[in-house]
Amino acid sequence: MSTDAEWEKWGQKDPYFGVITHDKFRNRNLSEDVRREFFDSGREHIQRVIELCRKHIDTGFEVRRAVDFGCGTGRLVIPLAEISEKVVGIDISPSMLSEAGRNSESFGLANVELITSDDELSKLSGSYNFIHSYIVFQHMPVQRGMRVITRLLDHLEDGGIMAVQLTYSKNRFAASGGYPSSEFGWRFMRWGYTRLRKLKNLVFPSKDPEMQMNPYQLNRLFYLLQSRGIREFHSEFTDHGGELGVFLYFQKKAGSESGG
Ligand SMILES: C[S@@+](CC[C@H](N)C(=O)[O-])C[C@H]1O[C@@H](n2cnc3c(N)ncnc32)[C@H](O)[C@@H]1O
Repeated sequence: MSTDAEWEKWGQKDPYFGVITHDKFRNRNLSEDVRREFFDSGREHIQRVIELCRKHIDTGFEVRRAVDFGCGTGRLVIPLAEISEKVVGIDISPSMLSEAGRNSESFGLANVELITSDDELSKLSGSYNFIHSYIVFQHMPVQRGMRVITRLLDHLEDGGIMAVQLTYSKNRFAASGGYPSSEFGWRFMRWGYTRLRKLKNLVFPSKDPEMQMNPYQLNRLFYLLQSRGIREFHSEFTDHGGELGVFLYFQKKAGSESGG
């Protein structure tokens, strides 16, 4: 089953838990207070991200036109829409997008556009001065993720800032620097892990869809950014249950080379 189909299942079955995997966000526990907590977490996240953009990249930065890639139920689209002219939320799951649409309406926001994703971002048009993605790329196959990052860069306007988070390593491989100790070990682990999970599902069927965790090779990402004329970035480490990542912030300067 592709990760896309699995994410649509999350969107249909338990969208808020699919976004933040904490039991309180299961459908059955979604009280008004829990929903408020969910959206407050999004507002706090965006506030912090914009503060970091101003502190480390561009002191006068204001979001005008934004993209949130992998927007889920709109947790981060809503606070972005509250501070900008327009936000485009992109997601692979039509059910997630429907929920994001209902949420944007309930917050009285008319400046939100929601579009279904594909790896070429063929439905995304125009350029944006803020492109953001958080806890998304880890959940899709790496080659596809790299393609999407390349396409997102095409839509970043001169002077625009991109803030993108992705995972690069796993702390359960502490003895070998976050990775299995050989390429063979890595492949075997992926192969064996998938089969073991399938076997486990046969014996103890899981009610939940799959949620992959895929680490990226940062050297490939850095190559892409440098070849696109990015000269500096700010980065913070992330750690979600031992999935180690980086949250990169960088600005596309006017006159940056294109290509890559
Ligand atoms: C953990 S949720 C995060 C949602 C949102 N970024 C947030 O933090 O509130 C991951 C989201 O990525 C979406 N997603 C997964 N694979 C995707 C893909 N290939 N293209 C676009 N979105 C994808 C899922 O449908 C899901 O809504």
